[in-house]
Amino acid sequence: MKSKVSAATLDKLVALCKRRGFVYQSAEIYGGLNGVYDCGHLGTLLKKNIRTAWVQSMKEAASSMVQFEGSLLGPQSVWEASGHIANFQDPMVDCLECKHRYRADDIDLEKSCPHCGKKSWTDVRQFNMMFKTELGASVDNATSAYLRPETAQAIFINFKNIMSSNRIKIPFGVMQIGKAFRNEITPKQFLFRMREFEQMEMEWFCKPETAAKDFDFWMQKRLDFYKNFIGLTPDRVRLRAHEKDELSHYSKGTSDVEYNFPFGWKEIEGIANRGNFDLTQHSNFSGKDLAVFDEQEKASFMPHVVETSVGVDRLFLTVLFDAYDEEEVEGEQRVVLRFKPTIAPIKAAFFPLTKKQVEPMMALYEALKKKTGFEIEFDESGSIGKRYRRYDEVGTPLCFTFDFQSEEDGKVTVRFRDSMKQERIAFDAIEQFINDALQ
Ligand code: GAP
Repeated sequence: MKSKVSAATLDKLVALCKRRGFVYQSAEIYGGLNGVYDCGHLGTLLKKNIRTAWVQSMKEAASSMVQFEGSLLGPQSVWEASGHIANFQDPMVDCLECKHRYRADDIDLEKSCPHCGKKSWTDVRQFNMMFKTELGASVDNATSAYLRPETAQAIFINFKNIMSSNRIKIPFGVMQIGKAFRNEITPKQFLFRMREFEQMEMEWFCKPETAAKDFDFWMQKRLDFYKNFIGLTPDRVRLRAHEKDELSHYSKGTSDVEYNFPFGWKEIEGIANRGNFDLTQHSNFSGKDLAVFDEQEKASFMPHVVETSVGVDRLFLTVLFDAYDEEEVEGEQRVVLRFKPTIAPIKAAFFPLTKKQVEPMMALYEALKKKTGFEIEFDESGSIGKRYRRYDEVGTPLCFTFDFQSEEDGKVTVRFRDSMKQERIAFDAIEQFINDALQ
């Protein structure tokens, strides 16, 4: 049974991520780019599994669900209509002594600067968090564009295209996974608050009269996702409804899914009842009517939207915090990532006990890899104990060892990551063992 808060610290996870190739600081050899990260081999696999689980959970939750991939750049008019130009800003303050910059709501301005200890603040100014750029080479013809701060707007402005090309009727959902960019004043806590990150957003278009019920439905589905698809420890996850003064400019009601990090309960996903704000705004600003005709009522209505929005990278960090465990085994420390097997980047590792067993184990490994496409690895270096630790540390659920007896009895030893128990199983049972772990 896991305790209420993870055994991991941010420092331990940052070090593990770099050492084992989950995540690297972007442009590290040039001093690093603050709030931007690159993903290594294991990180790429873990992210892919998180995305797959999300898509699967969405498809299972509602039959009328389509996919979409919007562009990263949007013209100024989109962000004027969405309210981002006017409202997407954080309060910023600088220390006049050491020039350190802070989000004004992150610090107590009655106290001195946490960096230099002096108390000499500038006025608080509003800082818009969107990245602006110009399209085109010629200054005269240049058009202002912005990197999207959320993926959702591309869905709203394509609402009519999506509906007619897919021949779908209200209610339906549109899901999208893609990058978003925010010029955060103070990126922090590793992947928690970044400047370039990825979101998984689903916009549920419904009739106004079902919006409140649909909002409740999606809150339950999203909790179910974290427990059953991602495998987070249930008592580290909760829903928290926003107070009125916390609501975004578009929201009629928002609840956050929060996780109990060692640095406190923090948002990992926002679920919002956006009303008809977005489609109304884009109808007004573009001059194109985005209302839908109801055949039964013989009248037009503006669909309402329930949105679910989670950051892939923030969930990635959450999954690491949740899976991380340390224990003492035979006087030595074992670090283990207890990933749900479907989320684990590597499903199984194959070990020959000595050089003599390399060939037959390699043959089993290659044949299985070719047949199933499982993400599995072969490792012949170091003692078996060292190899177990190497794969525990990256959360591999199963390890198979080919030993002196294997040639004679046609069996390998399977060793389970969590219990560390071992069993002898037949060569042809290996595939089933991996499949069972993935159920
Ligand atoms: N379309 C709604 C929207 O974007 P949000 O609460 O601003 O809502 C949704 O963001 C999710 O995106 C957050 O719950 C978080 O998981 C992720 N996210 C937001 N800003 C982030 C950042 N700077 N770095 C990493 N993830 C972020």
